[in-house]
Amino acid sequence: GTHLLVLQACNLTGWGGNELGSRMHVTTVDGEGNFSGEYHTAVSSAKKPIQPSPLIGSQHLDEDGQCTFGFTVNWKKFSDSTAVFVGQCFAGEGEDEILQTSWLLREKVDSLPSDWKATRTGRNIFTRM
Ligand code: BTN
Repeated sequence: GTHLLVLQACNLTGWGGNELGSRMHVTTVDGEGNFSGEYHTAVSSAKKPIQPSPLIGSQHLDEDGQCTFGFTVNWKKFSDSTAVFVGQCFAGEGEDEILQTSWLLREKVDSLPSDWKATRTGRNIFTRM
C-alpha cells in the first residue's frame, strides 16, 4: 500500500515539462535506477531545426519520493552540443510533484582558445504532465 505509493513517487518514468516549454519523457527505469528516454527541447542555439534527442540517466531508488538523479542529453540529430542535468524530485502529500534541476550545456568550439566560452549553466523546474 503506502510503501508502493511512495516508491512510485520517486520513479522518473513518464515525467513532464519545464518552464521553457521543453519536455522530458523517460520510457524505462530499471532495477538499478538506470533510465533512458527522449528530451524535446523548446529552445536551441543550434542552426538546424530542433529534433527529439535521446537521454540516458541514473536515479537513486529512495523510498521517500525525494530522490536525486542525473542524465545526459546528446543532441546529435541537430547539434554538436551535449547537456547534463542533475536534480532532485520533491513529492509531498497533496503537493505538486516537481523536479528541481541544474544543467550544464557544452558547446563544440573550434579551438582551445575558445574553450572559456563553451559551457553554459542554468536551472530548470519540471512539473508532471
Ligand atoms: C543546443 O542548443 O545546442 C541544443 C539544445 C540545448 C537546449 C538547452 S539544454 C538546457 C536548457 N534546458 C532546456 O530545456 N533546453 C535548454
